[in-house]
Amino acid sequence: MRRAVLISLALGLVLGVIGTVMAMSALRSGPHMTSVLMHMQAFHRDALDANVKANRCASTDNLPHLQVLRMLSNDLEPIFLPVGKDADFRQKASNFRAALDAAIAAPPDDCPSLGAAMTKIDHECKSCHSEFRN
Ligand code: HEC
Repeated sequence: MRRAVLISLALGLVLGVIGTVMAMSALRSGPHMTSVLMHMQAFHRDALDANVKANRCASTDNLPHLQVLRMLSNDLEPIFLPVGKDADFRQKASNFRAALDAAIAAPPDDCPSLGAAMTKIDHECKSCHSEFRN
């Protein structure tokens, strides 16, 4: 009787460890992380869009979102690759970073220039989606 209890406890412990390891590796990469990264990007992209619509276009309102987008874009390759056409993906990711770098180097300080920067950023989102998003 005592032995059966000990064996089930040990078995429970081992299965628990295996389950945790599997869950952790599933979270580290794969669909969950790619989705989180994209939703974070969409959150900041939509915040910029809302600022344009609300006529809040000072660089102090928008630079923080552009900077977060730029930081998040560093994770595109480590989180998505391999995707098959890896060189293409790297090129799209790098074009996206270039659009953000240009916006950050000359931070938009009025709505027309923020709108123009957004058009370029959106173009790079779409360019990658058209090839890699199912
Ligand atoms: C270099 C490639 C690339 C760039 C740049 C990119 N995306 Fe994506 N995005 C993808 C891929 C691939 C998917 C589909 C895979 C997935 O959803 O996990 C995707 C999916 C998404 C999704 C759906 C996620 C989900 O799980 O529902 C959203 C929202 C999104 N992207 C927003 C954006 C926005 C906004 C930008 C630009 C600010 C952007 N993406 C730029 C590659 C990219």
